[in-house]
Amino acid sequence: AEPATEQQATASTGSTVRRTKVSVVGAGAVGATMAYALLTRGVAREVALFDINRAKVEAEALDLAHGIQFTAQSEVVGSDDVEVVRGSDVVIVTAGAKQKPGQSRLELAESTISLMGKILPSLLEVAPDAIYLMVTNPVDVVTYASLKLTGLPPNRLFGSGTVLDSSRLRYLVAQATGVAVQNVHAYMVGEHGDSEIPLWTSATIGGAPLLDWQGLEGRGPLGDAERAAIAYEVVNSAYRIIEGKGATNYAIALAGSRIVEALLYDQHAVLPVSSLLKDYYGISDVCLSVPSVVGKGGVLHQIEVPLSAAELRGLQASAESIRNTARSFGL
Ligand code: 2OP
Repeated sequence: AEPATEQQATASTGSTVRRTKVSVVGAGAVGATMAYALLTRGVAREVALFDINRAKVEAEALDLAHGIQFTAQSEVVGSDDVEVVRGSDVVIVTAGAKQKPGQSRLELAESTISLMGKILPSLLEVAPDAIYLMVTNPVDVVTYASLKLTGLPPNRLFGSGTVLDSSRLRYLVAQATGVAVQNVHAYMVGEHGDSEIPLWTSATIGGAPLLDWQGLEGRGPLGDAERAAIAYEVVNSAYRIIEGKGATNYAIALAGSRIVEALLYDQHAVLPVSSLLKDYYGISDVCLSVPSVVGKGGVLHQIEVPLSAAELRGLQASAESIRNTARSFGL
């Protein structure tokens, strides 16, 4: 169901409309576009932007507010005072250093972890009951560090993970096969970064196993080389975008607002978010992405999708890579 419709339906029956509030921490390219995506998709009744740069956060909020006539009924506020976050249902954390061209997500870890140590305590003071959605990179390590810093239960603090990478994968498979992206079901799992892997074994197109796909209208089946090229493109597309425009913002913002929708409307949607694993195929004590059920309580369940031996090895290697980075920062 479209969230805007749910709000309107409640309003037309005369019962109280529950005011949903989402705060976005960080008014940079990702944070501001996230707020824009939340507004245009009609996800939350109130969107609050928080950033230490007062001029920037006020300007972004004002620019967004001027477009409200054209979105679902909502309010947008921006401030450099953390009070603006008070009472949020969901807090999205996008604040952090920008990835420079050629720099990997993991290279951002140190500055981001220390930033989280500074901002999370004050966010928790004003929004103690919120769900925390971490977006800042390297998102898996940042999520793990933030769990340690806050002591929040792992269902309530998790990362956007490979929701974006999986949509990149589905887009490329859709392009290669000529089938609508909504009818491609395929996941990138593991790190949101260089060690992530595609799960081809469980991927389907219209219910048919992707590995058995026979091709359509002159488009051949996806052989080993085509699949390898698609996986390579998924892993490297952020680098390409950063080379070209300095940051990625649109797709991550749409992915983030999709996750928020699942949370606020208790959708029990399957999304590959990054959360703390506990004996997932024997993998524990690391945050990474696997297909998970997301609803009002946050991450409700991690799905043990069938894995080939190679996929399991890939997931284990990705877990090891994230864990090594986390350890190198004393986590
Ligand atoms: C992305 O994958 C850079 O993590 C960001 O677009």
